[in-house]
Amino acid sequence: MKTSSPLKTLALIGALAAIGACSTGASGTAGEGADTTSDSGADGSLANDVDTDQDIGALDGAASADAVEDDSGRAAEAPYDAKLKLPATLFDYANQAIPAHFKTETMGMHGQTSLVADDNTPAHNPITNAGATLGRVLFYDKNLSQNRTVACASCHKPELGFSDDRVLSKGFDGGETARHSMGLTQARYYRGKRFFWDQRAATLEDQVLMPFQDPVEMGMTLASLEARAKAAKYYPALFEAAFGDPEITTERMALALAQFVRSLVSTGSKYDEGRAQVTSRSEDFPNFTAEENLGKKLFVMPPPMGGKRCFACHGGEGFVTMTATTNGLDADPSKDPGFGAVTGQSSDMGTFKAPSLRNVALRAPYMHDGRFKDLAAVIDHYSGGIQPNPNLAPPLFISNGQATQLTMTATEKKALVAFLHTLTDLKMTQDPRFSDPFGG
Ligand code: HEC
Ligand code: HEC
Repeated sequence: MKTSSPLKTLALIGALAAIGACSTGASGTAGEGADTTSDSGADGSLANDVDTDQDIGALDGAASADAVEDDSGRAAEAPYDAKLKLPATLFDYANQAIPAHFKTETMGMHGQTSLVADDNTPAHNPITNAGATLGRVLFYDKNLSQNRTVACASCHKPELGFSDDRVLSKGFDGGETARHSMGLTQARYYRGKRFFWDQRAATLEDQVLMPFQDPVEMGMTLASLEARAKAAKYYPALFEAAFGDPEITTERMALALAQFVRSLVSTGSKYDEGRAQVTSRSEDFPNFTAEENLGKKLFVMPPPMGGKRCFACHGGEGFVTMTATTNGLDADPSKDPGFGAVTGQSSDMGTFKAPSLRNVALRAPYMHDGRFKDLAAVIDHYSGGIQPNPNLAPPLFISNGQATQLTMTATEKKALVAFLHTLTDLKMTQDPRFSDPFGG
């Protein structure tokens, strides 16, 4: 990577200060000159007083010092560097092969369309290889949280289906998030387009800057975030590749992060391999065990055909809800009003988006509050624990004050869990394209 000119400037100022030769017009002693060094990254005027063409090779060591906090607690940014493991030829994010079954309407039931029709990619932010590469670096960069301890990936771990095994995740300062982390597989294909359990973010581009500014999660402001990225030696070239010039803005960070998150598409699960061998997913899959096929039937088919109709809500090849809804976790929706707190509508009280069930077996615990420790507990809930929430929607509803239960035998429960495991895609969670470029 090229040496950036702010780095040269800083290195030079440091050297000049050290030998007491700093001629900034600030009539400095050597001591004051050293102070200037620590926060000179933002002081453009100094750059005019130094000759950046001088040979500074010998000073590289001094320049790569970590940024330090000054007395006021303000981050005094010095250029910092990291050895990024990026491929010589960019990984392909833009032209991922999409299986045929993502492009066909599955059963014409429940208003479902093909998965690709539910793509929430906006026209102004298509995935590019350089954009998603930048997004990948931002996603794993701990330098972008207040005390440099937490990155997006700290709570969205690939091996855990891009979620977290903690009920509530830990933020930069040890505080806990208000809800359980969400899996990010197939986030691209959500017809409702909105993000978070309560859908408070209107778009993914809006969503991705929120964790940075969350006082528990990453503790930054947009200004400090931009300053951090500007202080890192590796970003100008990545921004230039993605956007045509090296300018670093939080808007560009949002675009690149959204591209990376949208590239987290699973196409290689056991389910996908089986689905490719049949014309309709209601057929038994040749690569499934009898138990997995029974679980699939329970998930996909309506009750008259021996199913439990999970598919009515977790529909399509994305296995994702089409909008926020409730599965009757609580009778009283005021406990966490979910989407209702965003819209103020009584019909939205206690409703939540459920992320795609792809990779769900990797990401226990479950639900917006992480209340269920494993998939068996989830199935027990559907079989007998559904509470009479006033906003229950078919196939769950209230009759005579009682909530419908999707009652299942022990064999059926086990089969449903086995089916949910066929949605695991280790090829995707172990794909180097989505791995930590900092090598951590
Ligand atoms: C400290 C843990 C933590 C960190 C750090 C974090 N997240 Fe999250 N993330 C969560 C939690 C918890 C939720 C669910 C919060 C809610 O819905 O109220 C979530 C939800 C999301 C969602 C919504 C998914 C959906 O389908 O609606 C996306 C996308 C996301 N995070 C991306 C990111 C990105 C990008 C970053 C880094 C800029 C990041 N997260 C950093 C914990 C974290
Ligand atoms: C009426 C719609 C509806 C039906 C029917 C339904 N679900 Fe859900 N499901 C949801 C909603 C909504 C959530 C998220 C609830 C929350 O966290 O508040 C969810 C969450 C889940 C989760 C946890 C996801 C996660 O990331 O934590 C699993 C697993 C699940 N459902 C499986 C099933 C199975 C299996 C069936 C059939 C037996 C089923 N669902 C039937 C709406 C439904």
